[in-house]
Amino acid sequence: MDVWKDYQLKNKDRFLEELLALLRIPSVSAKSEHKPDMAACAEAVKQRLLEAGVDKAEIHATAGHPVVYAEKMVDPNKPTVLVYGHYDVQPAEPLELWKSGPFEPVIIDGKIFARGSCDDKGQFYMHVKALETLIKTNTLENNIKFCIEGEEEVGSPNLSKFVKANKELLAADCVLISDSAMISLDTPSLDIGLRGLSYIEVEVTGPNRDLHSGVYGGAVANPITILAKMIASLHDENNHITIPGFYDDVLESSDDERALMAKAPFDEKEYKDDLGVKELWGEKGFSTNERTGIRPTLELNGIWGGYTGEGAKTVLPSKAFAKISARLVPNQGSEKITDLLIKHIEKIAPAYVTVKATLHHGGEPYLTPIDSAAYKAAAKAMETTFGKTPIPVRGGGSIPICSLFEKELDCKVVLMGFGLDSDNLHSPNEKFDLANFYKGIETIPYFHKFFAKEG
Ligand code: BES
Ligand code: MN
Ligand code: MN
Repeated sequence: MDVWKDYQLKNKDRFLEELLALLRIPSVSAKSEHKPDMAACAEAVKQRLLEAGVDKAEIHATAGHPVVYAEKMVDPNKPTVLVYGHYDVQPAEPLELWKSGPFEPVIIDGKIFARGSCDDKGQFYMHVKALETLIKTNTLENNIKFCIEGEEEVGSPNLSKFVKANKELLAADCVLISDSAMISLDTPSLDIGLRGLSYIEVEVTGPNRDLHSGVYGGAVANPITILAKMIASLHDENNHITIPGFYDDVLESSDDERALMAKAPFDEKEYKDDLGVKELWGEKGFSTNERTGIRPTLELNGIWGGYTGEGAKTVLPSKAFAKISARLVPNQGSEKITDLLIKHIEKIAPAYVTVKATLHHGGEPYLTPIDSAAYKAAAKAMETTFGKTPIPVRGGGSIPICSLFEKELDCKVVLMGFGLDSDNLHSPNEKFDLANFYKGIETIPYFHKFFAKEG
């Protein structure tokens, strides 16, 4: 619509400046030293929402970092959209790999470089500016609520309690989230699913203290060697996960569905070159897109033990550790898989060591139907601004709260991400293309317009 275009064009630079200011706040939820920054960021989000024209915006304290809630109600009989996002970001380390400060955003070649630029400040902020556009041009026809949390990157430990305690407040006809990726600006796509997560930590103990590796080496099992062997046994020669029962509940995709997925363009050479790998790896019998979309996986997120400082120390360590996570696909349950993982690790540990495995966090997978009113509104909105029908794809990452929203609020979640897989989420030099930021702001008002009619 021309009124939207005019408004957005006139205010384009301000939109960006505001986002950059938000990116300057180091809202790292994982680190306690950033607690004041978290509070400041929540306050900034609340202020920006008020300026955009909401009726009310509130900061709700939780046992962890606060949740920002806001709403603009036009008519209780009209459909209500709940926008979810997160203002917290991942730690920026390793800092030396950043070309500019993670919290000093810079624009290079039309891309904003900063921690959180894509995940998720840049993306939820598109919704704040879309709302502003609708309000300031007097074209808002539905109700819009915002729930912007501060603990997504640490597993949303307090959000489920908040949602369960505030069902009335959050009541909506759909949840709209921009916290994932699309294929490209030329090939728009919509995520119809996300994977779940089971995250554990393993501690392997051998001798009761660090030993001289010459005096004892050869006579006592080295916990690092044992842990490495245990880990190596978790995949077979086809890169299938060996844990009994791991695949039992996996919802297999039909041949039709797989044929549809195969339509999404994929350039293997470009993919490999971008990552600097010579060969791709993965479960036999599945394509790369399937391996990251419809298949569960097991990843080592960290492994340590013994001496890792400067120089060499001849030590036979007492302990070795690993952080291990599984990505889950629909029908797999996070608690069940966590239980399987822990029991399996304990079972395969040889008598030379003792093993302690504990849960970090988990989350359920999510799948959204493409015949829902919300999906249709999102597809139509993208068609309008991209000139192409978005391809339905499965996202590999996780947003654990999706399944809880569906259950507690009894409505569907739509994942309308405007990021790119190559945006370096959780990595050094995270970025968000300005073109994607503005495309999101342009597209989102159409979602509301179409959902207002058909929701
Ligand atoms: N925005 C991501 C999830 C995502 C990324 C979905 C790309 C689809 C495509 C989110 O912030 C995230 O990183 N989630 C964590 C989950 C968590 C429990 C810490 C993840 O996926 O590792
Ligand atoms: Mn995110
Ligand atoms: Mn993230």
